[in-house]
Amino acid sequence: MKVAYVTTDHPLARQDDEREIALAAWLGAGIEGAPVNWRDPDVDWSDFDAAVVRSPWDYILYRDEFVAWAHRVASVTRLLNPAPVIEWNTDKTYLRTLGVPTIPTHWPESGTDLPEWDEYVVKPAVSAGARDTIRTTDRETAAGHTAKLLGEGRTVMVQPYVPSVEQEGELSLLYFGGRFSHAVRRHPMLTGVAETAENRATLRDPDDDQFALAERILAAVPHDLLYARVDLVRMPDGEPVLIELELTEPYLFLRSELAAPDLFAEALAEMLKG
Ligand SMILES: Nc1ncnc2c1ncn2[C@@H]1O[C@H](COP(=O)(O)OP(=O)(O)O)[C@@H](O)[C@H]1O
Ligand SMILES: [Mg+2]
Repeated sequence: MKVAYVTTDHPLARQDDEREIALAAWLGAGIEGAPVNWRDPDVDWSDFDAAVVRSPWDYILYRDEFVAWAHRVASVTRLLNPAPVIEWNTDKTYLRTLGVPTIPTHWPESGTDLPEWDEYVVKPAVSAGARDTIRTTDRETAAGHTAKLLGEGRTVMVQPYVPSVEQEGELSLLYFGGRFSHAVRRHPMLTGVAETAENRATLRDPDDDQFALAERILAAVPHDLLYARVDLVRMPDGEPVLIELELTEPYLFLRSELAAPDLFAEALAEMLKG
């Protein structure tokens, strides 16, 4: 089996430090993986038994091109996750229709159209790595950023800042082939404190209510998923809610759990058989 490990060589994209671990695990499962730049025009995707979307982290600059790419590749080989999932999941408006608890989100039509909250997070619906995302207590600043993003033709999300990301933290639950692998507590991104080797993600056991919510979220997606990351936070009343469902190009925290790379590889091998 020959499988494309879909990545990028864009200078602005973060380095994918999980690539070698994943490829080694794939090899152990009899899968020959090859890193491929999704925008490389010389690639013949039909040469591969499958293409696994892993770290095309520049897609955020070319989202429409990326979605078109996904459909094109899916017409000549097996794309994982599937193209309809990629199209749906690269725009956070999916949070409006999933039917599960999320951070209360206002979808403004104009810069002046904002609720009264103590502290705002303003983010575009198409984003990753907190790109173009701000946190502010100043309503005018929130309004200005909202107007700027709307002016660029982008869909905007306005949320209250959820302080629990700094204490309990954001919890990411990783699934391979629909099976739970591991969960990590994430470093909060809007605090001005950079992520370092010391404060980076740490392994954590989800609570029962977090497990239950994650399962409910995944059950709402009508596709077989090779990989899924469910990102949860707790609201001030203790309720766990979805902040983001990552089905496109999640970092998988493969270093956090010894068994994770093999689970990933086994799930891929299983799907390639089917
Ligand atoms: N409403 C919020 N309250 C607190 N922190 C937030 C909020 N929204 C986003 N963040 C922080 O910003 C990060 C990025 O936001 P997220 O919605 O996950 O978008 P993306 O990861 O796609 O950029 C989160 O991991 C979290 O640390
Ligand atoms: Mg996120």
